[in-house]
Amino acid sequence: MKEGNMKKVIKIEGGHELNGEVTISGSKNATVALIPSAILAQGPITIVGVPTISDVDSLSEILGDLNVKVTKLAQDHIIIDPTDIKNIPLESSAVTKLRASYYFMGALLGRFGEVKMKMPGGCYLGPRPIDLHLKGFEALGASVKYEQGSYTIKAEKLVGTKIFLDISSVGATINIMMAAVYAQGRTTIENAAKEPEIIDVATLLNKMGAQVRGAGTNEITIDGVDKLMGCFHEIIPDRIEAGTFIILAAAAARKMKINNIIPQHLDSLLSKLEEMGVKMMVEIDSVTIEKSDELNAVSIKTLPYPGFATDLQQPLTTLLTQCSGESTVKDTIYPERFKHCIELQRMGADIELSPGKSFIKGPTKLYGDKVTATDLRCGASLVVAGLIADGITEIHEISHIDRGYEDIDGKLKNLGANIWREEIED
Ligand code: EPU
Repeated sequence: MKEGNMKKVIKIEGGHELNGEVTISGSKNATVALIPSAILAQGPITIVGVPTISDVDSLSEILGDLNVKVTKLAQDHIIIDPTDIKNIPLESSAVTKLRASYYFMGALLGRFGEVKMKMPGGCYLGPRPIDLHLKGFEALGASVKYEQGSYTIKAEKLVGTKIFLDISSVGATINIMMAAVYAQGRTTIENAAKEPEIIDVATLLNKMGAQVRGAGTNEITIDGVDKLMGCFHEIIPDRIEAGTFIILAAAAARKMKINNIIPQHLDSLLSKLEEMGVKMMVEIDSVTIEKSDELNAVSIKTLPYPGFATDLQQPLTTLLTQCSGESTVKDTIYPERFKHCIELQRMGADIELSPGKSFIKGPTKLYGDKVTATDLRCGASLVVAGLIADGITEIHEISHIDRGYEDIDGKLKNLGANIWREEIED
């Protein structure tokens, strides 16, 4: 059989009760911004807590194209040395493998006043424009041209200014912050996003010597500096991976402890789970979930942080199929982020869809089937479903899952799940 005819799937035999402890890895969405921001320094940056996910491989490949040296010291420990960086156009396939490659726009523009790169890729969650990033660069004095699938963004000089974001976009906030660190004078981002990952990036930039204030609030100011130095940084835990394991514990565990979390980052999820009747004990950096006899239906509306995270509505939907009554999920961030519902319906879920919303009736028994991870968090929702379904669930397109969850099968195996990878005929 030719190699091209084979593909890898994840298989899960449902019904094995989970038990034990799991440790959450470093935040994917912080990492994918921290790695590009490292090129703003004029010396080596050491980052600890880097998750082993394919998005990191793609970003490392892009760093390689830029002649930036990446050394892996331990599994989660890298040194990025941009001393000999060369600002070449970013046109490799790695750029289109993930959305976060767009952070090289802000970073290279900030460092060199010029960047040329292909349109970034990433999960399809409906339209994902980058107009606010580009308007931010223009406000700082750059010109933006889009020709034959590539952006050229150039500035003779970047000058600080006031930028109001029409939508508090995570990506635009971080990209503008990176473009502004070397700009002349003060940049103020109003209606900035407040996600913890933004604070993490600002913390790294400040350790390098930048002057970023107000990250975590809706007004961020950046006072331009002349030089940024190498430093050491430890990434915050992944609140979305933590949320995924908390949800799957509520669905499938007798007793499970999730370690290395920042509970405050998970407030909106934990309060919903409490409303559902999930038994849990929250400690300083962990949460323990115990099996509950019956769970109640709830209504969720996704919002920018600190509201309910859009990234968690997909895995939560699977848990809602096990709750008594009708739950509703409204996604105000990505109204088309409901492809997982079609896959869950295939497994027996009673879900109705209307634009931007899903209505989930439960409890319903789920049955193993062949399903597709259409995007990263859809994959997470199918893993949760596979753990509680009757029979075997076969998940296709697992590269989406590997983009954002470190060793998800290994972590679940340790907890008692029967999960494995298989190569099957395409
Ligand atoms: N938006 C615009 N114009 C822009 C930018 C955003 O209209 O220029 C809109 C988007 O279409 C969306 C909303 O603003 O409706 C918010 O998007 P945001 O820019 O905040 O999202 P993002 O930066 O592209 C990050 C995460 C996503 C997460 C969203 C929302 C990374 C790499 N990605 O995306 O994570 O869903 O914030 O919290 O940080 C995931 O991890 O599975 C994932 C998709």
